[in-house]
Amino acid sequence: MRSSKVNLTVDFLGHTLRNPLALTEGPLTGSVARIRRAAEHSIGLIFTKGIRPQPAVSPNPFIAKSGRNNLMNADWSDIGFEQWLEDLDALRERDFVLVASIAKNYVTPEVAADMAEEIAKRQPDAISLVDYDPDDLLRAVKLTRPRVKVPLMVKLCPFMPRLEEVLKALVAAGIDGVAAMDSIGPVLAVDTQTGIPIMGSADGSGYLSGNAIKPVMIKYVYDITRFVDLPVVGVGGVNRAEDVVEVMMVGGTVAGMVAAPLLRGLQVFDRVEGQLRKHLAGRDVADINELRGLTHCRVAEAQLTHEARAVIDPQKCTNCGLCRRVCFQQAPIEENDTTRIRVELCVGCGLCVSVCPQKAIALG
Ligand SMILES: Cc1cc2nc3c(=O)[nH]c(=O)nc-3n(C[C@H](O)[C@H](O)[C@H](O)COP(=O)(O)O)c2cc1C
Ligand code: SF4
Ligand code: SF4
Repeated sequence: MRSSKVNLTVDFLGHTLRNPLALTEGPLTGSVARIRRAAEHSIGLIFTKGIRPQPAVSPNPFIAKSGRNNLMNADWSDIGFEQWLEDLDALRERDFVLVASIAKNYVTPEVAADMAEEIAKRQPDAISLVDYDPDDLLRAVKLTRPRVKVPLMVKLCPFMPRLEEVLKALVAAGIDGVAAMDSIGPVLAVDTQTGIPIMGSADGSGYLSGNAIKPVMIKYVYDITRFVDLPVVGVGGVNRAEDVVEVMMVGGTVAGMVAAPLLRGLQVFDRVEGQLRKHLAGRDVADINELRGLTHCRVAEAQLTHEARAVIDPQKCTNCGLCRRVCFQQAPIEENDTTRIRVELCVGCGLCVSVCPQKAIALG
């Protein structure tokens, strides 16, 4: 199939997005100018930075690379509510889909509802409330819902307690969509030359984003779409086309990114869109929506087994020795310049399958 024929559009809160990619809250959407710059790239959905009542000053430094594809941040930088109202006014004329995000965690539910009402007058395509306290978030939704007509979303923190109960209550209170998740923290990283934390916050701690947090997000999206039938933005560690596919397979509708474009530039959206087309064309998938929720079916079909053991395909094995080094059971051995598995020692843990560079091992 030709990659140009692949359909990447997805329906989200009454809009058809050009692709399932979102730029969520962060420095890249901290003002009208930054949002307009982002909108020049292949992004289906843009969230403003979390809007708060007062402008805030960031501790220096407040963003640092951590590991290969991860970021730590202690970002409080904000232009404040009055400036945001002006910026949202300036964004009324636009050709992209915009979610105005309210940093609910900094205000009471009552203030959040007042802010939402003012923001709704500037006609964003949706409003999202972000919070760490489920009861406060629920109260904010209950107060906001009757006061705004635009679709209302919530963005959840990682590891939200009582997830099923909270989600069902939020749906009953009238939310239309969910984003999961915010960065994970607090976390701490230290400069090993000086012993000084790499973030400039008061206790040196910050929040972690990027590839390391992706499995937490994937499980989160999987659980949310198990509990409620709402469109979900999966955000946390998305870097490449396969990550977007993973978000869709566990039930998500849109995949968000912040660390990736911060580290690699906004062009990452253009590249991921292109990779996604090629990836799907190569698998003969004409429409990305076909993948949504596939994992829910596959998990239901899966048979629990305790009998599987590693089997090497001698046609593919190059005798590189990696499986011999990683196996804690010492099951693979070298014999006559080939590697074979001593089945009686193998316990079927699967580690060698996942590390073999030739994909020469399967559990059978
Ligand atoms: C520097 C920085 C600032 C952020 N500011 C906000 C914010 O204001 N509101 C919010 O809900 N999330 C904020 N986030 C979280 C991101 O929107 C996103 O949920 C998180 O970084 C995980 O996605 P990622 O791994 O693609 O970065 C911020 C993230 C970073 C790195
Ligand atoms: S890791 Fe793979 S290629 Fe290397 S010896 Fe083991 S089976 Fe062969
Ligand atoms: S599956 Fe686990 S126990 Fe078996 S050979 Fe591979 S690494 Fe060793």
